[in-house]
Amino acid sequence: MLPVYQNDDKKSFAYVSLHKRWPVLIGQAVNDIRIETSQLPDGPKKDEAESIITQMEAVQNSVAQNLPIEPITADVYDKDEYNKFVFKPNSTETYKWSERGWLDCECLIYRKLQIVVESSKHWRGYDYFARMKNDTFVKSSSAVSTLANRYHKIYNEFKSKESEVSPEALKIVTHELLQTCLWGNATDLSLLVTVSMEELRALQVSAAAREKESVLDNDFEDVWKQLNSEKGGRVDIILDNSGFELYTDLVFTLFLLDSGLAEQVVLHPKTLPWMISDVLPTDLPTIIGMLTDPSSFPDSREDLDFIAGKLHQYLNDGQLLLRTSPFWVTSVPYWEIKPNGILGGDAIYRDLRCSKLAIFKGDLNYRKLTGDCVWPYDTPFRTAIKDLATTGIPVLALRTVKADVIVGLEPGRGEQLDKEWKENHPDDEPHAWAWGGKYAVVSFNK
Ligand code: F6P
Ligand code: MG
Repeated sequence: MLPVYQNDDKKSFAYVSLHKRWPVLIGQAVNDIRIETSQLPDGPKKDEAESIITQMEAVQNSVAQNLPIEPITADVYDKDEYNKFVFKPNSTETYKWSERGWLDCECLIYRKLQIVVESSKHWRGYDYFARMKNDTFVKSSSAVSTLANRYHKIYNEFKSKESEVSPEALKIVTHELLQTCLWGNATDLSLLVTVSMEELRALQVSAAAREKESVLDNDFEDVWKQLNSEKGGRVDIILDNSGFELYTDLVFTLFLLDSGLAEQVVLHPKTLPWMISDVLPTDLPTIIGMLTDPSSFPDSREDLDFIAGKLHQYLNDGQLLLRTSPFWVTSVPYWEIKPNGILGGDAIYRDLRCSKLAIFKGDLNYRKLTGDCVWPYDTPFRTAIKDLATTGIPVLALRTVKADVIVGLEPGRGEQLDKEWKENHPDDEPHAWAWGGKYAVVSFNK
């Protein structure tokens, strides 16, 4: 069994995450609850906030001080899975945060915060990251307008054609919109702790323009073949972030449905506030509502009303669906998407078997696809996704690289990037090129 990335590994982004990012991220949740509380009238909800904040700060303190991890005591479906990981073998003692794997610890933090809120009386279901997600979305208004305008044009052009749109034209637009979905992932809020929004935007634009150098594993041709193999069918998107990224996913969804490349699109959001910016079911109506609201987006009204109107239409007639599963917010790798998979992996397997293409968005989904293992760079994607590779589910990972794990590279390419990075950034770890969303992968397996 290959090792996973560990929190005490100074060469890994895990180390930076534990020591710099996580205490800040938890602080952001606490801060949101303080803001929300300050706007509440006196009453039981306001009174309860203090206890929530105290419990969340205890999680923050535990991480910041690198204390032994508190096991989960609430009676929740994934309790045993986490506690197996938290306790030392045959002991009542638990490991410290620095002594465990990166991915499991990161998932556990978000789970712990949510358990605090779910165990309350008046705050259940509250999303302490919603304010940040929505405020950031409004700030991307010029990119939102540009994409709405572009898609409206594509739609009108295709509709005005007397004969059917040629496969070549469909392929070109598929490529363009997939790129938009891919680079829409470069701006998740959890990374803003170490990189500014402006830096990320600049990266996003310049990297998209340099597809050849920045997409390190690019299976677009196979993806196109798969999408175009039959008319209609179902496409699934295992969502990542709300805000601008979700908006790009929705525009791609419209294209798939309008063009007939898919007959149905199923979106899979998370069921608890996750990695700050991830989509929750309530984000979809919120984002569509914001698109229709001139006070959020005053420009390009005609194009935005067109986009929002089409989304409503597809939601109403059942061609666009949201489907939730607690599986997506466990810490288990996606190798568990198989007939006997644990924690709901079996149900996801049965569901995704009906899909023509299952698109896994973003960094965290990629880490789970590959188990966050220390795979050599040139490991084939098919090898790294283990059991999932033989399920028959057509898997596409669309991910900007913001963590250590990466596979599917040509032999020597990763080592060359390490060398170049070290030459240009002598104080950094050589692998730090992989942490900032500058590179991406479009990796496919069927
Ligand atoms: O690795 C950096 C990180 O911010 C992790 O916290 C998390 O795995 C992920 O990236 C979030 O990125 P995305 O929203 O693309 O999954
Ligand atoms: Mg995310």
